[in-house]
Amino acid sequence: MIYESILTSVSSDGIPHIAPFGVREHQGLIFIAPFRPSTTLDNLLATRQAVLNFTDDVRVFAGSLTGHRDWPLRPATQVNGQVLISALTHQELELVEVRDDEVRPELYFRIVHEEMHTPFRGFNRAQAAVIELAVLVSRLHMLPIEKIDAELEYLSIAIDKTAGEKELQAWQWLIDKVENHKAMMAGSNLA
Ligand SMILES: Cc1cc2nc3c(=O)[nH]c(=O)nc-3n(C[C@H](O)[C@H](O)[C@H](O)COP(=O)(O)O)c2cc1C
Repeated sequence: MIYESILTSVSSDGIPHIAPFGVREHQGLIFIAPFRPSTTLDNLLATRQAVLNFTDDVRVFAGSLTGHRDWPLRPATQVNGQVLISALTHQELELVEVRDDEVRPELYFRIVHEEMHTPFRGFNRAQAAVIELAVLVSRLHMLPIEKIDAELEYLSIAIDKTAGEKELQAWQWLIDKVENHKAMMAGSNLA
């Protein structure tokens, strides 16, 4: 099972970095697999510490792909890291094992501290739709336009019926990115 989280890491110079990552559990450890190159990977190998944030503010997911990465943070409790203010809950992690790979290394972490901040308010279909579109947008260069259009049409039903303001904003950032990509593809086909 994979959970979509926001991983905050810090560079050796203390600069925070925010990125969405799918996380899994394996024998009591948390495990992530970043594709190279990755700022998150560089930071984690340098500091060996991270914070996993679980948030229902889907703008943070969409924002990481569309140039909106500046979200409010506060210092973590037990590790050298930063906690996303919008996290419903967060875990502070220490790197215990690296299985190196040229394409996608695997990093295993121990949870050293955990905090709960806000109760889970239930499932929202628009939030799920934004996450799905964010995953598609992160793979735009690999996908045929027809596939993107078909998925967009389906996902937009949940947006139209169930979105709040944050979901609408996140959705619009992603739609703008899809439109730019389509315009670029059309341009390169003409050239
Ligand atoms: C929902 C979601 C899940 C993601 N999960 C992963 C992942 O498991 N591994 C990965 O390499 N990138 C994943 N990505 C893409 C990274 O967030 C993105 O490439 C990010 O910028 C990481 O690169 P960075 O560390 O250089 O910022 C995911 C993106 C989204 C929207």
